Amino acid sequence: MARKPMMAGNWKMNNTIAEAVVLTQEISNQYDKETWGEDVDIVICPPYVDLKPAKTVLDFDRTKIAVGAQNVYWEPSGAFTGEISVPMLKEIGCAYCIVGHSERRELFGETNEDVNRKVKALVEAGLYAIVCVGESLAVRDEGTTEEFVCAQVRAAFAGVDAADAQRCVVAYEPIWAIGTGRTATPEQAEAVCAAIRATLADLYGAEVAEGMRVLYGGSMNPGNVEGLLAQPNIDGGLIGGASLKCESFVQLIEACL
Ligand code: PGA
Repeated sequence: MARKPMMAGNWKMNNTIAEAVVLTQEISNQYDKETWGEDVDIVICPPYVDLKPAKTVLDFDRTKIAVGAQNVYWEPSGAFTGEISVPMLKEIGCAYCIVGHSERRELFGETNEDVNRKVKALVEAGLYAIVCVGESLAVRDEGTTEEFVCAQVRAAFAGVDAADAQRCVVAYEPIWAIGTGRTATPEQAEAVCAAIRATLADLYGAEVAEGMRVLYGGSMNPGNVEGLLAQPNIDGGLIGGASLKCESFVQLIEACL
């Protein structure tokens, strides 16, 4: 089955509202309805405060570029100081949310159980989850990358049925490649993405797994995107640094076409 490619920009903690509006407008100005609208799914994931302004720009321009959050809390409301809920994201018109990014896991102590709760809360509300998995350099050096990453996938999808799983995208992001300029080779990335798809097939059957997208993330840029996208199990990218400049993000989108 041919999967539609996806380019998702993870802005991390970058861009004030004013800066976000400028960058979103720059990207929107490049929007090509014939190709971008049909042949690739494009998502930008700015900080929470930028979501509404970015969405307003994209809606005004009638683009099909979606906005996504970078994190969410699983309870719908209540005494959870500092957290943002799924209904809040939904009201903004956020279609996607990144879950379990390695920075959340490593810097903010997010566990596999937390990731699973967030995935469930998102898909039950009809949003799409971009579920991040990936190994540290220590795990890679030990030679247990595929076991480690596939265990993260199983944990993230525990108790999620096939219909809801199809609302998810998995992003394979080796931690040693994030923001380091050190990309996984296409062969390294493909081996893990294929193992992720095999795990999804084990959970949901081959047909569902064939329809789900697996992205690569970690220093993906216009110089290395083609080799990565040429791999049969890599369906797009989750982009940090290169999504912060219109020119490089647009080049990555065009590489999908
Ligand atoms: P990077 O970040 O492209 O800057 O390596 C990717 C990510 O963390 O999602």
